[in-house]
Amino acid sequence: MSKRILPWVAIAMAGLLTACGGAAEPTPAPTLDPEMARGKRVFEANCGACHSLVPDTVLVGPSLADINTRAATLVDGLDARAYIYTSIMRPDDYLVDGFQNLMPSTLAKSLSGEDIDAVVAYLLAQ
Ligand code: HEC
Repeated sequence: MSKRILPWVAIAMAGLLTACGGAAEPTPAPTLDPEMARGKRVFEANCGACHSLVPDTVLVGPSLADINTRAATLVDGLDARAYIYTSIMRPDDYLVDGFQNLMPSTLAKSLSGEDIDAVVAYLLAQ
């Protein structure tokens, strides 16, 4: 008798455990790939005080919410990536109308090449 019941108990237990395991598992949060995650960190640490990613929100500099589409249309011969790079490496080259030249010119030195690549990729993905 007990020999016949045991397997069912085992199966029931296993089912219970699986159910519990399933419930305890956190819902997977959307994860950023490592470069995006780095870009986000670089942005928050070096750019976020002056640039919002919320549309039409001016902090010190213009919102960069739509920079991925806007950047390509601003300077002849520069695509979006090149424009954002230039903005970081040589912020004096192109001044946005209505803004003062307040963007630090030290970013090219203080950020590593990887940081700059990552933050440009992050902005292009906005
Ligand atoms: C101290 C404030 C400040 C910081 C920090 C700063 N910026 Fe700026 N940024 C500005 C201002 C002001 C402008 C507009 C004047 C100009 O064009 O230089 C600007 C312009 C820009 C533009 C051109 C925007 C457009 O609409 O054409 C880009 C792109 C940009 N910044 C990216 C960045 C990135 C990326 C970082 C961080 C790595 C950063 N900025 C850090 C103040 C800042």
